[in-house]
Amino acid sequence: MSILNVALGARSYSIHIAPGLLDHPEPILSCLRLKKVAVVTNDVVGPLYLERLCAGLRGAGVEVASVILPDGEAHKDWPTLNLIFDMLLREHCERATTLIALGGGVVGDMAGFAAACYQRGMPFIQVPTTLLAQVDSSVGGKTAINHPLGKNMIGAFHQPRLVLADTATLATLPTRELSAGLAEIIKYGLIRDAGFFAWLEQHIDALRALEPEALAWAIERSCRNKAEVVAADETEQGVRALLNLGHTFGHAIEAGLGYGQWLHGEAVAAGTMMAVELSRRLGWLGDAELARIEALFLAAGLPVFGPPLGADVYLALMAHDKKVEGGKLRLVLLRALGQAVVASEIDRADIAAAIGARCR
Ligand code: NAD
Ligand code: GLY
Repeated sequence: MSILNVALGARSYSIHIAPGLLDHPEPILSCLRLKKVAVVTNDVVGPLYLERLCAGLRGAGVEVASVILPDGEAHKDWPTLNLIFDMLLREHCERATTLIALGGGVVGDMAGFAAACYQRGMPFIQVPTTLLAQVDSSVGGKTAINHPLGKNMIGAFHQPRLVLADTATLATLPTRELSAGLAEIIKYGLIRDAGFFAWLEQHIDALRALEPEALAWAIERSCRNKAEVVAADETEQGVRALLNLGHTFGHAIEAGLGYGQWLHGEAVAAGTMMAVELSRRLGWLGDAELARIEALFLAAGLPVFGPPLGADVYLALMAHDKKVEGGKLRLVLLRALGQAVVASEIDRADIAAAIGARCR
């Protein structure tokens, strides 16, 4: 088992990564303030893993309430969020009850936001069950729901008390979802870890085949990268913005097509290629580097072109990005492979041209 620390002073917490953790709730038990938890999951993950998690907790004398949300990004909204509050109130959950998010990034982001709001803040634990959630969304305390005009626009920073990543749960994950998680793994290589990018080029097939050693190493290295960035800049005043490589373009794809059409990781992959193309046009990356990045996304089973929404539609949707400051779009680009920067003085025509070149 790997155990990493997210160093945030009094709010520090650990990330446990190993197969079979669902059957070993001891780390959860040591986090609880009351012997009562409320589990949030969905109608895909619930039938697979809810009972196993609950059985271990009940066996240790913990009272367990739960709610099963409808699955999918299209339900990352107010009415679905309210189902969590309904359950918490119905089950007389107190501020010291611990909420547990069991599922992918959608469940994690919604449960985390509910925990940030319920009685002005209750403790929560992330039990991520997708690759994307195990390498990214469960760590760092960003929680949110979507608005029709913008992705993750309504939310809060609220750190979990613990992240418990049972890598064996990935065995039931659909192939397309596994690829979506690989997009966020590749992101760490691109923004700050060129050595990891080179390792991924060698091991991408092993990861797609769920080879345990390769998988454990990639999850650990991704979480280590994320934990370092979050510890340095919890609320995204600076360096944390780099974790959004490809996301400004990608969020436009998700909102433009309607949430749930493209997976988040797919949109991030195509969006990253737009950022890479723009970086190439600025002279920061060469053709060979663009080709390497494109080849890795393709080998991961990810799209490398966005849908042809039209550059104006992309730019209008991108104007809602959370990195916009004083009305100015700020984009994460690559100065070099392994070195991301935030750029704010990029010509609109250059952005439109890069989008046009990477849509098909
Ligand atoms: P998801 O939560 O929709 O999960 C993908 C699909 O897999 C769903 O149908 C889900 O029910 C199913 N599933 C989950 N675990 C499974 C398992 N073990 N076996 C079988 N099926 C399983 O999507 P995701 O890719 O995990 O997360 C995407 C979301 O995460 C987006 O909303 C994105 O905005 C958010 N996100 C948040 C952060 C953050 O820092 N908070 C970072 C990245 C992404
Ligand atoms: N996924 C971006 C972040 O956590 O900051």
